[in-house]
Formats: sequence, structure tokens, C-alpha cells
Amino acid sequence: MAKYKVGIIGGDGIGPEVIDETLKVIKATGIELDTVSYDLGADRYLRTGDVLPDATLEEIRGLDAVLLGAVGPPVGSTAVPSGILERGLLLKLRFELDLFINLRPFITPKGWNRFNIEPVDMVVIRENTEGTYAGEGGQLRRGTPYEIATQGSVNTRFGVERTVRFAFELAASRPRKHLTLVHKTNVLTFSGDLWQRTFNEVSKEYPSVEIAYNHVDAACIYMVESPSRYDVIVTDNLFGDILTDLCGAVSGGIGLAASANLNPNRTGPSLFEPVHGAAHDIVGTGKANPLAAIRSGALMLDFLGEKEAAGKINKVLEEFEVPAGATTASIGNAIAERV
Ligand code: IPM
Ligand code: MN
Repeated sequence: MAKYKVGIIGGDGIGPEVIDETLKVIKATGIELDTVSYDLGADRYLRTGDVLPDATLEEIRGLDAVLLGAVGPPVGSTAVPSGILERGLLLKLRFELDLFINLRPFITPKGWNRFNIEPVDMVVIRENTEGTYAGEGGQLRRGTPYEIATQGSVNTRFGVERTVRFAFELAASRPRKHLTLVHKTNVLTFSGDLWQRTFNEVSKEYPSVEIAYNHVDAACIYMVESPSRYDVIVTDNLFGDILTDLCGAVSGGIGLAASANLNPNRTGPSLFEPVHGAAHDIVGTGKANPLAAIRSGALMLDFLGEKEAAGKINKVLEEFEVPAGATTASIGNAIAERV
């Protein structure tokens, strides 16, 4: 009997393709999932006008986990107004399910040398429910020469501390035990001060963890010049969003980057998704790389407590070299076979 009830949001574009391969690989580990598919994303919105119906959200609350492919219309399309799916679906799930940790590991695969840079093995812990994403702000006199737009950043001691603590726990469990706080404390003096103080205070409880601080602009230089200096990074929502795209690029490409949106208190399901988008331009061509989704699937198994199954997938991925001419399905099949 299946032990876990998992919601599947294939979404748009290549989303369903990479999720198919992920489910194939999970099945190969021997873990059985009871899957429930949810038709959500740009396509659903354009057909029915629904983004995330209340009843669907309530149903999702009762699941063990959610696996999401990608959502969004083709790049350049204006059929779905900007922000509708981002705020109404992705961020709504993060906020409503209290997925306050966005964990993004970056590991350069063996033999992968896209930018001729050093291989990395690092994790970014991004605060996932506050900061500029909280939606504080507004507009006044819109469309007039006197218009005003404000977009605030919400930082609570509670939200910062639970994120920083999670990052210290993770750093303490890794061989290098190194944690870098990334912020912009020299300019964002209010929120920066809260982050820095919280970080310093919590650090006293983790004497085994070596700590560092980088301003976010400097972190961008280091990330390109010598990314292997990083082990674990903790940062706020917006810096984490931007920095993790850069981490994706320097670690081998965004097609490899996995992510876990976690509710570590386990009061509801956590959500696992590749960092990449829907890439409508390559749908059906076999060019979509399923590795990011498969890695996200491994993160899901790990979080569900299936360490052995997750370990099997990660072990195969460690050794796996993507053959020339590989397709979405051939990669999925090869990994499933080795698992
Ligand atoms: C990500 C994405 C999302 C974000 C968007 C699609 C809302 O860019 O997961 O990094 O900004 O967090
Ligand atoms: Mn992003």
C-alpha cells in the first residue's frame, strides 16, 4: 500500500514532461506514491479563469507532499497578466502552507563543465514567506505624473530566526560546517540589522559552525569567481531569489537546480519543484533536462523520511554523466534503471 499521498502539479510547458521522469525514478526506488493530479497553471487559468480554487487549496493541505513541474505562459506572452500565477498560485501555496524555508542545493554533476569553472556543492537557504514578497505596499495616483508606488520589505524576528536556525542546523550537519549570511546591511540598515543580530545571536548556539558575512553584491562576484568557497548560505527572500539563479548558472545550468519549499514544523505538506520555468519553446522536443525535477523528487523522499530511497537517487546522480544526444525520457530511463 502506498505510504504517501502526493499532489502532482505538472503545470505548463515542460512541467509535465519532467515530472513524468521524476515519478519513473521514484517508482524505481520501490517507494509507492498515491498521486493526485491537480490541473493548475497558465493553461488552466486561460481555460477557466481559476488560479487556485479554495477547495483545491483545502484538499492540498491534507496531502503528505506536493511535486510541481513548472507553471507559466510562454515567454513574451501577455495572455496571463504578470503576477497572477506568481502571487495567486506559487506564493499563495508558500504562504498558506507556511513553507518558510526554500532550500536550494547546487551540486555540479560529474564531468559537467559548462562554464569551465570549479565544481560546487553548496546549499542556499532562502527565507520564503517574508521580505518584499509579503506584498506590503501600494500605489497612489496611478497613471498620473504624481503617482507613487511603494513596496515594503517585511522582516520579523520570528521569521528571520526560524530561517537562520534552520540554516545553522543544516550547516552543522555538513562536513564543512560553514555558513555565510548574505544581505546588504550597509544600505538596508533596518532589516539588515535584524538579520545580522539574529544571525550572530543564534551562532553562539552552534560553536562548531564557522560563520561569514557577504554583502549581496560582493556575493555575486564571489559566486562567479570562486563559488566553491560556499557551503551553506542563508539570506532573505528577494536576495535568495536572485542569488539562486546565479548559483544555478555557475553550478552547471538552471536545468539542474532543484528546490524544496519546506514547512519544517510539518503542519502541512511541503512542496518540491525544479527552479527552472516552463520552457514552452522546447515542449515535445525531448530537450527538457529532467535532472532538476528528479533531484527535487529526491529532496521530497528525503524530507518524507525515505533516506535510503533518496540516497539511492542521489548516489546515481553523483555518478551520472549526461550522454551526448540524451533526451528527457532517455535520461529518466537511464537513472531509473541504475536506481
Ligand atoms: C522562484 C521563482 C518564483 C520566485 C516566482 C515564479 C514567483 O522565480 O521560485 O525562484 O520569485 O520565488
Ligand atoms: Mn526565481
